[in-house]
Amino acid sequence: MEQITDHLCRYKNYTFASGLTTAEHIDSLQNFEIRDSDIFLVTYPKSGTIWTQQIVISICGLGGGLNEYPNNLEQMPWLEYTEGREDYALRPSPRLFASHLTPALMPPGLKDKKAKIIYVMRNPKDNIVSYFHFSSVCADLETPKSFELFLEEYLKGDVGASSWFDHIRVWHSKRDQYNILFLTYEDMILDLRGAVVKICSFLGKNLSDAAIDQVVEKSTFKTMKKDSKANYEFVPKDKISGNFMRKGQIGDWKNIFTAEQSQRVDQLFEEKLGDLSLKFIWE
Ligand code: A3P
Repeated sequence: MEQITDHLCRYKNYTFASGLTTAEHIDSLQNFEIRDSDIFLVTYPKSGTIWTQQIVISICGLGGGLNEYPNNLEQMPWLEYTEGREDYALRPSPRLFASHLTPALMPPGLKDKKAKIIYVMRNPKDNIVSYFHFSSVCADLETPKSFELFLEEYLKGDVGASSWFDHIRVWHSKRDQYNILFLTYEDMILDLRGAVVKICSFLGKNLSDAAIDQVVEKSTFKTMKKDSKANYEFVPKDKISGNFMRKGQIGDWKNIFTAEQSQRVDQLFEEKLGDLSLKFIWE
């Protein structure tokens, strides 16, 4: 891995927070054996990963459908991180994984289109603000000196997971190669039940209305904030000193962006992704 700053390193053109993985581990994923029953949740950081994690775990866990782990991080570990990693080949099916990786670094077996991928994306302005706040409380990330400077780094892709624009473009453009469901954070905010139903249908789970209600209830911001398996407060305070569950809203960017910054992101969005007909809700 090439160390590019105190907190960031790069491998195969992709940026990682230092210390979370190794080049050998990333390379080893090329031989990672995929099972047809595997479920992957892929996101750019701060797009609603732990939220969707809770939804998928709640759906799959109904009726004792999962081997239980102490918390959502262990239940659905990040494929690319080495800390706390076990031999996933020994896990019973169905295995659940989260990842922020880009397609080129993912296990090639996913292209058999049997294992499922749920890709969640969030409008970039709220994504930037969430990433900015998280960088201030996460020891693995560089504490931003100001929002303005963070925005520059983010727009250059000099943050963990590289460029938001590239992440969205490459996953979107390769969607036909995978068995993949795209969701947006904003749609989940506006209609959580609808999102749960979509996920159930994608996963081939035929749940009763009451079971769907139960999943929705477990996945609201309010419930998750109190759920010690889901809210990531189990991560030691010297690693994350603030809340993963921060505001959980659409449009928080309006509290911090200047008009000029907002226009700049609009312009970049148009330049880089304008041809993809993606629809985001911004406020
Ligand atoms: P904010 O920082 O804007 O509050 P990730 O899990 O990818 O790191 O994303 C974290 C973001 O998802 C945070 O956004 C967090 O509050 C939000 N989030 C987590 N659980 C949520 C829920 N149940 N409802 C709405 N937003 C949620």
